[in-house]
Amino acid sequence: MEKNTAVKNNQKNWSGRFNEPVSELVQRYTASVDFDQRLAAYDIQGSRAHAQMLSAQGIISTQDLAAIEQGLDQIHHEIRVGKFIWRQELEDVHLNIEKRLTDLVGDAGKRLHTARSRNDQVATDIRLYLRTSIDEIISLIRLMQRALLDLAEKHTDTVMPGFTHLQVAQPVSLGHHLMAYFEMLKRDIGRLSDCRKRVNQLPLGAAALAGSSYPIDREQVARQLDFEGICENSLDAVSDRDFAIEFCACATLIMTHLSRLSEELILWMTPAFSFITLADRFCTGSSIMPQKKNPDVPELVRGKTGRINGHLVALLTLMKAQPLAYNKDNQEDKEPLFDTVDTLVDTLRIYTDMLAGIQVNQHAMRASATRGYATATDLADYLTKKGLPFRDAHEVVAKTVQYAERKGCDLSELDLSELQTFSPQVEADIFAILTLDGSMKSRAHVGGTAPQQVQAAIKRARKWLS
Ligand code: ARG
Repeated sequence: MEKNTAVKNNQKNWSGRFNEPVSELVQRYTASVDFDQRLAAYDIQGSRAHAQMLSAQGIISTQDLAAIEQGLDQIHHEIRVGKFIWRQELEDVHLNIEKRLTDLVGDAGKRLHTARSRNDQVATDIRLYLRTSIDEIISLIRLMQRALLDLAEKHTDTVMPGFTHLQVAQPVSLGHHLMAYFEMLKRDIGRLSDCRKRVNQLPLGAAALAGSSYPIDREQVARQLDFEGICENSLDAVSDRDFAIEFCACATLIMTHLSRLSEELILWMTPAFSFITLADRFCTGSSIMPQKKNPDVPELVRGKTGRINGHLVALLTLMKAQPLAYNKDNQEDKEPLFDTVDTLVDTLRIYTDMLAGIQVNQHAMRASATRGYATATDLADYLTKKGLPFRDAHEVVAKTVQYAERKGCDLSELDLSELQTFSPQVEADIFAILTLDGSMKSRAHVGGTAPQQVQAAIKRARKWLS
Protein backbone atom coordinates (compact mmCIF):
# COMPACT_ATOMS: atom_id res chain seq x y z
CA MET A 1 0.00 0.00 0.00
CA GLU A 2 1.38 3.39 -0.92
CA LYS A 3 1.65 6.13 1.65
CA ASN A 4 -1.75 7.24 2.81
CA THR A 5 -2.08 10.84 1.68
CA ALA A 6 -5.25 12.83 1.12
CA VAL A 7 -6.03 13.34 -2.53
CA LYS A 8 -8.15 15.78 -4.36
CA ASN A 9 -11.44 14.19 -5.24
CA ASN A 10 -10.93 15.34 -8.77
CA GLN A 11 -8.31 12.60 -9.15
CA LYS A 12 -11.07 10.06 -8.69
CA ASN A 13 -13.36 8.62 -11.34
CA TRP A 14 -16.41 10.23 -9.74
CA SER A 15 -14.74 13.54 -9.14
CA GLY A 16 -16.33 16.27 -11.29
CA ARG A 17 -18.72 17.88 -8.83
CA PHE A 18 -16.55 17.99 -5.72
CA ASN A 19 -14.67 21.09 -4.59
CA GLU A 20 -12.68 19.91 -1.61
CA PRO A 21 -10.62 16.82 -0.91
CA VAL A 22 -11.75 14.18 1.57
CA SER A 23 -9.76 14.06 4.79
CA GLU A 24 -7.26 11.30 5.30
CA LEU A 25 -9.53 9.75 7.89
CA VAL A 26 -12.54 9.73 5.57
CA GLN A 27 -10.42 8.25 2.85
CA ARG A 28 -9.27 5.45 5.12
CA TYR A 29 -12.76 4.97 6.54
CA THR A 30 -14.46 4.62 3.16
CA ALA A 31 -11.79 2.63 1.34
CA SER A 32 -12.18 -1.14 0.91
CA VAL A 33 -9.15 -1.88 -1.23
CA ASP A 34 -7.22 -3.34 1.72
CA PHE A 35 -9.62 -6.26 1.80
CA ASP A 36 -11.49 -6.30 -1.51
CA GLN A 37 -8.31 -6.65 -3.59
CA ARG A 38 -8.77 -10.36 -3.19
CA LEU A 39 -11.64 -10.02 -5.66
CA ALA A 40 -9.24 -8.80 -8.37
CA ALA A 41 -9.20 -11.95 -10.51
CA TYR A 42 -13.01 -12.06 -10.52
CA ASP A 43 -13.22 -8.34 -11.26
CA ILE A 44 -11.01 -8.84 -14.32
CA GLN A 45 -12.98 -11.90 -15.42
CA GLY A 46 -16.23 -9.91 -15.16
CA SER A 47 -14.75 -6.91 -16.98
CA ARG A 48 -13.54 -9.07 -19.81
CA ALA A 49 -16.98 -10.61 -20.32
CA HIS A 50 -18.60 -7.18 -20.11
CA ALA A 51 -16.20 -5.68 -22.69
CA GLN A 52 -16.74 -8.59 -25.09
CA MET A 53 -20.49 -8.11 -24.86
CA LEU A 54 -20.14 -4.34 -25.43
CA SER A 55 -18.11 -5.03 -28.55
CA ALA A 56 -20.43 -7.77 -29.84
CA GLN A 57 -23.33 -5.36 -29.45
CA GLY A 58 -21.49 -2.59 -31.29
CA ILE A 59 -21.34 -0.38 -28.18
CA ILE A 60 -17.52 -0.22 -28.25
CA SER A 61 -15.24 -0.92 -31.21
CA THR A 62 -13.25 -4.11 -31.70
CA GLN A 63 -10.05 -2.05 -31.38
CA ASP A 64 -11.18 -0.82 -27.98
CA LEU A 65 -11.99 -4.39 -26.98
CA ALA A 66 -8.53 -5.55 -28.05
CA ALA A 67 -6.88 -2.76 -26.04
CA ILE A 68 -9.01 -3.51 -22.97
CA GLU A 69 -8.23 -7.23 -23.13
CA GLN A 70 -4.54 -6.62 -23.50
CA GLY A 71 -4.55 -4.13 -20.63
CA LEU A 72 -6.50 -6.49 -18.38
CA ASP A 73 -4.04 -9.30 -19.18
CA GLN A 74 -1.17 -7.12 -18.10
CA ILE A 75 -2.94 -6.04 -14.90
CA HIS A 76 -3.74 -9.65 -14.09
CA HIS A 77 -0.07 -10.47 -14.48
CA GLU A 78 1.05 -7.50 -12.38
CA ILE A 79 -1.28 -8.57 -9.58
CA ARG A 80 -0.14 -12.19 -9.73
CA VAL A 81 3.53 -11.34 -9.44
CA GLY A 82 2.90 -8.71 -6.75
CA LYS A 83 3.92 -5.73 -8.88
CA PHE A 84 0.54 -4.02 -8.92
CA ILE A 85 0.44 -0.89 -6.78
CA TRP A 86 -2.79 -0.70 -4.81
CA ARG A 87 -3.75 2.86 -3.88
CA GLN A 88 -6.03 3.58 -1.01
CA GLU A 89 -7.01 6.94 -2.49
CA LEU A 90 -8.59 4.96 -5.33
CA GLU A 91 -10.99 3.44 -2.79
CA ASP A 92 -11.60 -0.10 -3.96
CA VAL A 93 -10.47 -2.93 -6.20
CA HIS A 94 -12.69 -1.76 -9.06
CA LEU A 95 -11.37 1.79 -9.28
CA ASN A 96 -7.77 0.65 -8.82
CA ILE A 97 -7.98 -1.70 -11.75
CA GLU A 98 -9.89 0.76 -13.93
CA LYS A 99 -7.38 3.53 -13.28
CA ARG A 100 -4.46 1.28 -14.13
CA LEU A 101 -6.24 0.14 -17.29
CA THR A 102 -6.72 3.71 -18.40
CA ASP A 103 -3.06 4.49 -17.67
CA LEU A 104 -2.10 1.51 -19.81
CA VAL A 105 -4.47 1.77 -22.79
CA GLY A 106 -5.93 5.29 -22.67
CA ASP A 107 -9.45 6.05 -23.83
CA ALA A 108 -10.36 2.42 -24.46
CA GLY A 109 -9.94 1.89 -20.72
CA LYS A 110 -12.35 4.71 -20.01
CA ARG A 111 -14.97 3.04 -22.22
CA LEU A 112 -15.00 -0.19 -20.20
CA HIS A 113 -17.40 1.26 -17.66
CA THR A 114 -20.06 1.99 -20.31
CA ALA A 115 -23.40 0.43 -19.31
CA ARG A 116 -22.01 -0.66 -15.95
CA SER A 117 -21.78 0.62 -12.40
CA ARG A 118 -19.65 -0.49 -9.51
CA ASN A 119 -22.92 -1.59 -7.95
CA ASP A 120 -23.58 -4.40 -10.41
CA GLN A 121 -19.84 -4.96 -10.79
CA VAL A 122 -19.21 -5.68 -7.11
CA ALA A 123 -22.29 -7.89 -6.81
CA THR A 124 -20.97 -9.91 -9.76
CA ASP A 125 -17.47 -10.18 -8.28
CA ILE A 126 -18.73 -11.47 -4.94
CA ARG A 127 -20.92 -14.05 -6.62
CA LEU A 128 -18.02 -15.31 -8.74
CA TYR A 129 -15.81 -15.45 -5.66
CA LEU A 130 -18.42 -17.22 -3.56
CA ARG A 131 -19.23 -19.75 -6.27
CA THR A 132 -15.57 -20.78 -6.43
CA SER A 133 -15.35 -20.86 -2.64
CA ILE A 134 -18.42 -23.09 -2.36
CA ASP A 135 -16.89 -25.55 -4.82
CA GLU A 136 -13.67 -25.64 -2.81
CA ILE A 137 -15.52 -26.11 0.47
CA ILE A 138 -17.63 -28.94 -0.95
CA SER A 139 -14.52 -30.79 -2.09
CA LEU A 140 -12.90 -30.28 1.33
CA ILE A 141 -16.00 -31.66 3.07
CA ARG A 142 -15.82 -34.69 0.82
CA LEU A 143 -12.19 -35.24 1.85
CA MET A 144 -13.19 -35.05 5.48
CA GLN A 145 -15.99 -37.53 4.84
CA ARG A 146 -13.44 -39.93 3.35
CA ALA A 147 -11.32 -39.63 6.49
CA LEU A 148 -14.41 -40.37 8.60
CA LEU A 149 -15.19 -43.44 6.49
CA ASP A 150 -11.62 -44.73 6.75
CA LEU A 151 -11.78 -44.52 10.54
CA ALA A 152 -15.35 -45.86 10.75
CA GLU A 153 -14.43 -48.83 8.59
CA LYS A 154 -11.79 -49.95 11.10
CA HIS A 155 -14.29 -49.72 13.96
CA THR A 156 -17.56 -51.28 12.87
CA ASP A 157 -17.11 -53.80 15.74
CA THR A 158 -15.50 -51.49 18.27
CA VAL A 159 -17.91 -51.18 21.17
CA MET A 160 -18.34 -47.90 22.95
CA PRO A 161 -21.08 -46.54 25.16
CA GLY A 162 -23.72 -44.62 23.27
CA PHE A 163 -24.83 -41.70 25.42
CA THR A 164 -27.98 -39.77 26.10
CA HIS A 165 -27.70 -36.89 28.59
CA LEU A 166 -24.01 -37.85 28.51
CA GLN A 167 -24.99 -40.88 30.62
CA VAL A 168 -24.25 -44.35 29.31
CA ALA A 169 -27.32 -45.48 27.38
CA GLN A 170 -26.79 -48.38 25.00
CA PRO A 171 -23.76 -49.88 23.30
CA VAL A 172 -22.97 -48.61 19.82
CA SER A 173 -19.93 -49.07 17.65
CA LEU A 174 -17.44 -46.28 17.17
CA GLY A 175 -18.00 -46.77 13.44
CA HIS A 176 -21.71 -46.10 13.87
CA HIS A 177 -20.97 -43.03 15.97
CA LEU A 178 -18.61 -41.61 13.33
CA MET A 179 -21.12 -42.29 10.57
CA ALA A 180 -23.53 -39.92 12.29
CA TYR A 181 -21.09 -37.14 11.37
CA PHE A 182 -20.88 -38.42 7.82
CA GLU A 183 -24.64 -37.90 7.55
CA MET A 184 -24.44 -34.37 8.96
CA LEU A 185 -21.75 -33.42 6.47
CA LYS A 186 -23.75 -34.97 3.66
CA ARG A 187 -26.63 -32.62 4.46
CA ASP A 188 -24.16 -29.75 4.67
CA ILE A 189 -23.09 -30.48 1.10
CA GLY A 190 -26.75 -30.59 0.06
CA ARG A 191 -27.34 -27.17 1.60
CA LEU A 192 -24.25 -25.67 -0.06
CA SER A 193 -25.19 -27.09 -3.46
CA ASP A 194 -28.64 -25.62 -3.13
CA CYS A 195 -27.25 -22.24 -2.03
CA ARG A 196 -24.86 -22.29 -5.02
CA LYS A 197 -27.80 -22.15 -7.45
CA ARG A 198 -28.95 -18.85 -5.99
CA VAL A 199 -25.41 -17.48 -5.82
CA ASN A 200 -24.90 -18.35 -9.47
CA GLN A 201 -27.14 -15.65 -11.02
CA LEU A 202 -25.75 -12.68 -12.92
CA PRO A 203 -26.31 -9.14 -11.59
CA LEU A 204 -24.36 -7.34 -14.38
CA GLY A 205 -26.62 -5.24 -16.55
CA ALA A 206 -28.47 -3.85 -13.56
CA ALA A 207 -25.95 -0.98 -13.71
CA ALA A 208 -26.42 1.47 -10.80
CA LEU A 209 -29.97 0.34 -10.01
CA ALA A 210 -32.40 0.81 -12.91
CA GLY A 211 -30.71 -1.04 -15.76
CA SER A 212 -28.98 0.43 -18.79
CA SER A 213 -30.13 2.44 -21.81
CA TYR A 214 -27.62 0.64 -24.05
CA PRO A 215 -28.62 -2.42 -26.10
CA ILE A 216 -26.80 -4.82 -23.76
CA ASP A 217 -27.02 -8.62 -23.96
CA ARG A 218 -27.10 -9.92 -20.40
CA GLU A 219 -27.64 -13.52 -21.50
CA GLN A 220 -24.36 -13.47 -23.35
CA VAL A 221 -22.48 -12.24 -20.29
CA ALA A 222 -24.20 -14.88 -18.15
CA ARG A 223 -23.22 -17.65 -20.56
CA GLN A 224 -19.67 -16.45 -20.76
CA LEU A 225 -19.27 -16.31 -16.99
CA ASP A 226 -21.04 -19.65 -16.46
CA PHE A 227 -23.93 -18.18 -14.53
CA GLU A 228 -27.07 -20.34 -14.50
CA GLY A 229 -29.33 -17.35 -15.02
CA ILE A 230 -29.62 -13.61 -14.64
CA CYS A 231 -31.01 -11.60 -11.72
CA GLU A 232 -34.39 -10.58 -13.04
CA ASN A 233 -34.85 -7.27 -11.23
CA SER A 234 -32.17 -4.60 -11.42
CA LEU A 235 -32.92 -3.11 -7.99
CA ASP A 236 -32.75 -6.50 -6.35
CA ALA A 237 -29.61 -7.46 -8.31
CA VAL A 238 -27.47 -4.63 -6.95
CA SER A 239 -28.75 -4.54 -3.41
CA ASP A 240 -29.55 -7.88 -1.84
CA ARG A 241 -26.87 -9.98 -0.25
CA ASP A 242 -29.19 -12.80 0.76
CA PHE A 243 -27.02 -15.26 -1.15
CA ALA A 244 -24.07 -14.38 1.11
CA ILE A 245 -26.25 -14.62 4.21
CA GLU A 246 -27.50 -18.00 3.06
CA PHE A 247 -23.94 -19.18 2.57
CA CYS A 248 -23.01 -17.97 6.06
CA ALA A 249 -25.98 -19.88 7.46
CA CYS A 250 -24.70 -23.04 5.75
CA ALA A 251 -21.27 -22.28 7.22
CA THR A 252 -22.66 -21.97 10.76
CA LEU A 253 -24.20 -25.42 10.47
CA ILE A 254 -20.97 -26.95 9.18
CA MET A 255 -19.07 -25.36 12.06
CA THR A 256 -21.77 -26.46 14.49
CA HIS A 257 -21.31 -30.05 13.36
CA LEU A 258 -17.53 -29.81 13.62
CA SER A 259 -17.87 -28.15 17.01
CA ARG A 260 -19.98 -31.02 18.33
CA LEU A 261 -17.41 -33.52 17.12
CA SER A 262 -14.67 -31.38 18.68
CA GLU A 263 -16.46 -31.41 22.00
CA GLU A 264 -16.53 -35.21 21.86
CA LEU A 265 -12.88 -35.51 20.91
CA ILE A 266 -11.97 -33.23 23.80
CA LEU A 267 -14.00 -35.33 26.25
CA TRP A 268 -12.71 -38.59 24.84
CA MET A 269 -9.16 -37.40 25.29
CA THR A 270 -9.43 -36.56 28.98
CA PRO A 271 -7.85 -39.22 31.19
CA ALA A 272 -11.30 -39.77 32.75
CA PHE A 273 -12.49 -41.17 29.38
CA SER A 274 -9.19 -42.16 27.73
CA PHE A 275 -11.10 -43.28 24.63
CA ILE A 276 -8.68 -41.76 22.16
CA THR A 277 -5.43 -39.90 21.75
CA LEU A 278 -4.87 -37.23 19.17
CA ALA A 279 -1.58 -37.06 17.31
CA ASP A 280 0.88 -34.73 19.04
CA ARG A 281 0.89 -32.30 16.13
CA PHE A 282 -2.67 -31.22 17.00
CA CYS A 283 -1.96 -30.63 20.68
CA THR A 284 0.15 -28.36 22.83
CA GLY A 285 1.64 -28.64 26.27
CA SER A 286 1.31 -26.43 29.31
CA SER A 287 4.07 -24.06 30.36
CA ILE A 288 3.52 -24.94 34.00
CA MET A 289 2.02 -28.45 34.18
CA PRO A 290 4.44 -30.91 32.59
CA GLN A 291 1.92 -33.75 32.32
CA LYS A 292 -0.50 -31.86 30.06
CA LYS A 293 -1.33 -32.56 26.45
CA ASN A 294 -4.06 -30.16 25.45
CA PRO A 295 -6.39 -30.70 22.48
CA ASP A 296 -5.92 -27.16 21.14
CA VAL A 297 -7.13 -27.83 17.63
CA PRO A 298 -10.60 -29.15 18.51
CA GLU A 299 -10.90 -26.47 21.19
CA LEU A 300 -10.21 -23.80 18.59
CA VAL A 301 -12.69 -25.32 16.16
CA ARG A 302 -15.29 -25.09 18.92
CA GLY A 303 -14.20 -21.51 19.63
CA LYS A 304 -14.17 -20.40 16.01
CA THR A 305 -17.76 -21.57 15.67
CA GLY A 306 -18.69 -18.53 17.75
CA ARG A 307 -16.90 -16.29 15.30
CA ILE A 308 -18.69 -17.82 12.30
CA ASN A 309 -22.06 -17.46 14.03
CA GLY A 310 -21.11 -13.82 14.61
CA HIS A 311 -20.48 -13.26 10.91
CA LEU A 312 -23.97 -14.57 10.07
CA VAL A 313 -25.51 -12.17 12.55
CA ALA A 314 -23.34 -9.33 11.21
CA LEU A 315 -24.62 -9.85 7.67
CA LEU A 316 -28.25 -10.19 8.73
CA THR A 317 -27.94 -6.98 10.72
CA LEU A 318 -26.18 -5.25 7.82
CA MET A 319 -29.11 -6.02 5.55
CA LYS A 320 -32.12 -5.55 7.75
CA ALA A 321 -32.80 -1.84 7.43
CA GLN A 322 -31.44 -1.05 3.99
CA PRO A 323 -33.87 0.63 1.65
CA LEU A 324 -33.62 -0.33 -2.02
CA ALA A 325 -31.30 -0.23 -3.84
CA TYR A 326 -27.51 -0.23 -3.27
CA ASN A 327 -26.14 1.39 -0.12
CA LYS A 328 -22.55 1.70 0.93
CA ASP A 329 -23.42 -0.43 3.96
CA ASN A 330 -22.94 -3.36 1.62
CA GLN A 331 -19.23 -2.76 1.47
CA GLU A 332 -19.25 -4.26 4.97
CA ASP A 333 -20.36 -7.62 3.60
CA LYS A 334 -16.87 -8.62 2.54
CA GLU A 335 -14.79 -9.09 5.65
CA PRO A 336 -17.30 -11.37 7.43
CA LEU A 337 -17.80 -13.34 4.24
CA PHE A 338 -14.09 -13.72 3.50
CA ASP A 339 -13.33 -14.69 7.07
CA THR A 340 -16.12 -17.27 7.01
CA VAL A 341 -14.64 -18.87 3.90
CA ASP A 342 -11.06 -18.76 5.21
CA THR A 343 -12.01 -20.21 8.59
CA LEU A 344 -14.04 -23.00 7.03
CA VAL A 345 -11.33 -23.93 4.55
CA ASP A 346 -8.65 -24.11 7.25
CA THR A 347 -10.91 -25.95 9.68
CA LEU A 348 -11.90 -28.62 7.17
CA ARG A 349 -8.31 -29.16 6.07
CA ILE A 350 -7.02 -29.51 9.58
CA TYR A 351 -9.88 -31.80 10.58
CA THR A 352 -9.25 -34.27 7.79
CA ASP A 353 -5.63 -34.59 8.84
CA MET A 354 -6.55 -34.81 12.53
CA LEU A 355 -9.03 -37.67 11.98
CA ALA A 356 -6.36 -39.68 10.22
CA GLY A 357 -4.12 -39.37 13.30
CA ILE A 358 -6.61 -40.59 15.94
CA GLN A 359 -5.54 -43.56 18.09
CA VAL A 360 -8.45 -45.49 19.57
CA ASN A 361 -8.30 -47.15 22.99
CA GLN A 362 -10.82 -49.94 22.42
CA HIS A 363 -10.32 -51.37 25.88
CA ALA A 364 -11.34 -48.12 27.61
CA MET A 365 -14.39 -47.74 25.40
CA ARG A 366 -15.59 -51.26 26.14
CA ALA A 367 -14.92 -50.94 29.87
CA SER A 368 -16.93 -47.74 30.01
CA ALA A 369 -19.92 -49.35 28.28
CA THR A 370 -19.76 -52.27 30.72
CA ARG A 371 -19.70 -50.00 33.75
CA GLY A 372 -22.80 -48.14 32.62
CA TYR A 373 -25.32 -51.06 32.36
CA ALA A 374 -25.59 -50.38 28.65
CA THR A 375 -27.47 -53.63 28.04
CA ALA A 376 -30.34 -52.92 30.47
CA THR A 377 -32.71 -52.16 27.59
CA ASP A 378 -31.79 -55.49 26.01
CA LEU A 379 -32.88 -57.31 29.14
CA ALA A 380 -36.18 -55.41 29.12
CA ASP A 381 -36.70 -56.25 25.43
CA TYR A 382 -35.94 -59.92 26.18
CA LEU A 383 -38.61 -60.04 28.87
CA THR A 384 -41.10 -58.24 26.63
CA LYS A 385 -40.53 -60.78 23.90
CA LYS A 386 -41.34 -63.46 26.54
CA GLY A 387 -44.73 -61.87 27.09
CA LEU A 388 -44.18 -59.30 29.84
CA PRO A 389 -45.67 -55.88 29.03
CA PHE A 390 -42.77 -53.48 28.29
CA ARG A 391 -43.56 -51.16 31.22
CA ASP A 392 -43.44 -54.10 33.66
CA ALA A 393 -40.23 -55.35 32.09
CA HIS A 394 -38.77 -51.86 32.53
CA GLU A 395 -39.57 -52.03 36.24
CA VAL A 396 -38.08 -55.52 36.66
CA VAL A 397 -34.84 -54.44 34.98
CA ALA A 398 -34.60 -51.26 37.05
CA LYS A 399 -34.70 -53.42 40.18
CA THR A 400 -32.12 -55.81 38.70
CA VAL A 401 -29.78 -52.91 37.90
CA GLN A 402 -30.19 -51.58 41.42
CA TYR A 403 -29.22 -55.01 42.76
CA ALA A 404 -26.17 -55.31 40.47
CA GLU A 405 -25.11 -51.79 41.36
CA ARG A 406 -25.16 -52.65 45.04
CA LYS A 407 -23.17 -55.79 44.29
CA GLY A 408 -20.77 -53.78 42.14
CA CYS A 409 -21.03 -55.90 39.01
CA ASP A 410 -22.46 -55.88 35.48
CA LEU A 411 -25.81 -57.52 34.61
CA SER A 412 -23.99 -60.21 32.66
CA GLU A 413 -22.01 -61.12 35.79
CA LEU A 414 -25.13 -62.07 37.79
CA ASP A 415 -26.01 -65.79 38.10
CA LEU A 416 -29.06 -67.14 36.32
CA SER A 417 -30.67 -67.79 39.71
CA GLU A 418 -30.07 -64.23 40.81
CA LEU A 419 -31.63 -62.90 37.61
CA GLN A 420 -34.59 -65.24 38.06
CA THR A 421 -35.42 -63.76 41.47
CA PHE A 422 -36.51 -60.63 39.58
CA SER A 423 -38.33 -62.45 36.81
CA PRO A 424 -38.95 -66.20 36.41
CA GLN A 425 -39.09 -65.75 32.61
CA VAL A 426 -35.31 -65.36 32.45
CA GLU A 427 -33.57 -68.43 30.99
CA ALA A 428 -29.98 -69.38 30.16
CA ASP A 429 -30.20 -67.81 26.70
CA ILE A 430 -30.17 -64.38 28.39
CA PHE A 431 -26.37 -64.30 28.60
CA ALA A 432 -25.95 -64.02 24.83
CA ILE A 433 -28.29 -61.02 24.96
CA LEU A 434 -26.59 -59.28 27.84
CA THR A 435 -23.21 -58.99 26.12
CA LEU A 436 -22.32 -55.66 24.53
CA ASP A 437 -21.67 -57.30 21.19
CA GLY A 438 -24.95 -59.22 21.30
CA SER A 439 -26.79 -55.99 22.01
CA MET A 440 -25.17 -54.23 19.08
CA LYS A 441 -25.69 -57.12 16.72
CA SER A 442 -29.42 -57.22 17.50
CA ARG A 443 -30.02 -53.70 16.10
CA ALA A 444 -29.87 -55.01 12.60
CA HIS A 445 -32.10 -52.73 10.53
CA VAL A 446 -31.14 -49.86 8.25
CA GLY A 447 -29.79 -47.08 10.46
CA GLY A 448 -29.03 -49.42 13.38
CA THR A 449 -25.69 -50.06 15.03
CA ALA A 450 -25.26 -53.76 14.10
CA PRO A 451 -21.79 -54.15 12.54
CA GLN A 452 -23.19 -55.58 9.33
CA GLN A 453 -25.53 -52.56 9.03
CA VAL A 454 -22.70 -50.11 9.65
CA GLN A 455 -20.62 -51.88 7.01
CA ALA A 456 -23.53 -51.50 4.59
CA ALA A 457 -23.86 -47.81 5.50
CA ILE A 458 -20.17 -47.27 4.81
CA LYS A 459 -20.53 -49.01 1.47
CA ARG A 460 -23.47 -46.74 0.53
CA ALA A 461 -21.47 -43.74 1.68
CA ARG A 462 -18.49 -44.66 -0.47
CA LYS A 463 -20.79 -45.02 -3.45
CA TRP A 464 -22.35 -41.63 -2.72
CA LEU A 465 -18.90 -40.05 -2.59
CA SER A 466 -17.63 -41.62 -5.81
N1 ARG B 1 -16.55 -0.90 -2.74
C1 ARG B 1 -17.96 -0.92 -2.98
C2 ARG B 1 -18.59 -2.13 -2.26
O1 ARG B 1 -17.88 -2.95 -1.84
C3 ARG B 1 -18.23 -1.01 -4.44
C4 ARG B 1 -19.52 -0.41 -4.85
C5 ARG B 1 -19.51 1.04 -4.59
N2 ARG B 1 -20.56 1.72 -5.25
C6 ARG B 1 -20.80 3.01 -5.02
N3 ARG B 1 -21.70 3.58 -5.70
N4 ARG B 1 -20.14 3.66 -4.09
O2 ARG B 1 -19.75 -2.23 -2.11
